[in-house]
Parts: sequence; structure tokens; C-alpha cells
Amino acid sequence: MIHNRKIIVLDTTLRDGEQVPGAKLNVQQKLEFAQQLKRLRVDIIEAGFPASSQGDFQAVQEIARSVGGSVGITALARAVKNDIDAVYESVRIAQDPLIHIVLGASNVHVEKKFNRSKDAVLQMGVDAVKYAKTLLPQVQYSTEDASRADFEYLWKTIEAVVRAGATMINIPDTVGYAEPEEFGELIRKIQDRLKNLSDATILSVHCHNDLGLATANTLSAVKNGAKKIECTINGLGERAGNASLEETVMALKVRESLYRCSTNIDTTELLRTSRLLTHLTGLDVQANKAITGENAFAHSSGIHQDGLLKDKQVYEIMSPEEVGAESMELVLTARSGRHAVKHAIAKLGFDTSDADAFEGVFQKFLTLADAKKEVYDHDLYYLLNDQREQPEHGNR
Ligand code: KIV
Ligand code: ZN
Repeated sequence: MIHNRKIIVLDTTLRDGEQVPGAKLNVQQKLEFAQQLKRLRVDIIEAGFPASSQGDFQAVQEIARSVGGSVGITALARAVKNDIDAVYESVRIAQDPLIHIVLGASNVHVEKKFNRSKDAVLQMGVDAVKYAKTLLPQVQYSTEDASRADFEYLWKTIEAVVRAGATMINIPDTVGYAEPEEFGELIRKIQDRLKNLSDATILSVHCHNDLGLATANTLSAVKNGAKKIECTINGLGERAGNASLEETVMALKVRESLYRCSTNIDTTELLRTSRLLTHLTGLDVQANKAITGENAFAHSSGIHQDGLLKDKQVYEIMSPEEVGAESMELVLTARSGRHAVKHAIAKLGFDTSDADAFEGVFQKFLTLADAKKEVYDHDLYYLLNDQREQPEHGNR
């Protein structure tokens, strides 16, 4: 098969994802998640927004120190010296550090947010890139709200910041306004001009999900020449979230002959990464969520089960094992015994070796199973968290 553009995957769960209500993580939790992102083999981790707080600065620095030997590390800065200094100081220890600068590019951002002329805002961006380049060779520039920007001004900005030294240009659909065909055309137009200006500059996209189109827009951008994608695990992010890493990566993999590109992601780590995030943030994934939802590989209709028993391909476009799920699915009910419940709990990553603690969970499980028809993983999470709040049954 002829492909193969390698698509760079930047994970921004720890920056764009972590800023959502209820998802705040401490330094230790961020570190644990970054280590899992390394196992997932993302190319770049966006570890935070270090100018926002001392805690964020420290977390980015710890991540750069502990996982930055084998994965690219970046963090976000507004186009101001203090922010850029904070990014530089926190990521510099990494092997492959990158400064990420963001500045509004749409009329509404320029006029309402900055209340300056377009030329003055553009100059701010150029000055920021020039300053960042005195610190590090790799600088990404994000044209915030690009999908609502006037194209000629957007291009003028891109041209100026590339000339100033930006090595990656990121096109964000900040408010999830874009539509796949239109966003693809925008990327094609930019890529066509960019290759004449500087072939080495990497064109990247960053899509939000306000209309449920973030994954579709990201894929359309890849089809039209984007070389880098920015995503989050479980699609966690501002408002309706960001493009989901697991959906985008699996679409590229399952439809490889269509997209003619691949990523470095170890897809067998996807489910583990999703579950770790759920565990750390307490934010559940909807049961029917593609790839990482509990029902993503569950077949319940008799017709489907019959077809699957004849040949899995009849109703399966990817195997559960490819994303790190087990093919066998146990549906827990009041008739399930201790063995099945223990198996399900261990699958969630909890320690089941303390017999008294397990017995406590099992009795709660029986009560719940009597009240509900089926007990799902998220029910077990609640049971286990409940149990964990009682110190003598600390479970993980
Ligand atoms: O959504 C957005 O525009 C961003 C930028 C910082 C890339 O998160
Ligand atoms: Zn964003």
C-alpha cells in the first residue's frame, strides 16, 4: 500500500483538557498521566499553561524533567514576554522543547479582545515569535479563532510569523464553528501557500467540538495536508471539548487506505489512558462514546450477535484488542459471583488483594445489582470510590 505521511500527534489533555470545570489535577496526578501519554507514544505533550499559576509551572517542569527525554514537551504562552519566559523556564530541560504562542486572528478577537488595530496585533505576534526564537529553536504559533478570521489577514499573519521564525503554524477552530468541507478547504489553501513560503514549516490543526464536528474537522484537515493534529483523551476540553485523540487516531488507522497516513500512537494503550483520565478527574465517559465508551464493543441485538458469531467482520470494523479492550465482555448482574466481580474490578486497575475490603465492595455490589438490571464499569467506579473514602478500605 502506498502511503505514508506520518502525522504528528500533540496531546493537550493536560492544558486544554485540564482547564475544564472539575478536571483540575495536582502535580502528582499530572505526572502520572504524562507517563501514560508517553506509553501511548504521543509525539508532543502540551503540559500546561505555566504563567497561569505556580502549580502549573511546577507541573510542566516536572513533566519536562521526568518524561521529556523521549517525548516532545510544550506549554502555552500568550504573546507576551512573561508568558514566554515561563514556558521557556519550565520546558527547557526536555530533550525536544517547544514554545507555543497563541494570539487572536479573527476580527472579533482583534477588535473586542485587544481593541487594537490588526497591524498592531500582528506586530505583537511577530515580536513574540522573535523573542521566543532567542530562547528555543522550536516555536509554534496558534492563530486563535482562525476559522472565523478574514483569510487574507490570517495569511498575512502566518506569512509574517513564519518569516519571524515560527516552525509550526497551528490553525485552531477555537469555538467549534467550522464544518468539515470548509475547514478542509481552509487547510488546503494555507498549505498550498505555505509550501511555497517554507516547506519545512509544519501545519497543524486544533479543533473544538461545539457542533460535535471536532473529529470530522481534524480528519478533513489531514486529508487536505495538515501534518500535525492536536487532540485530547476522551475529547476532554473547554465547553463541548476538543477533538478526541482516540477517535481521530483510530479513524486514521481503520481508514488508512483513505487517509494514506499513520501515527506513532500505540493504540493498545488507548483504553488504559482513557480510564486513567476518568479515574484521575472523576469525569465519566458516556457509555456509547466511540472507542472508549463502555458499549463501544458491546453487541446486544440478537441479529448482530448472530452475525458476529458467523464472522466478526460482519459487525466489527476494528477489534477491541486493537484499542486495549478485552474481547470477552462480562455483563454483571445480581447472579454474578465473587469471581466475576473481582475480575471486573481488577480490569479497572484496582487492587483486589485485601479480602475484607473486597467483601465490603461485593456486598454493596449485590445491593446495587438488586436495584439495577445490569452493573456497569462506571457503577463499579462509584462503589469503589465510595469504599475508598473509608480509610480502612483504601483500594488503589
Ligand atoms: O482553542 C484554541 O484556540 C486554543 C489555542 C491555545 C490553540 O486552545
Ligand atoms: Zn483549544
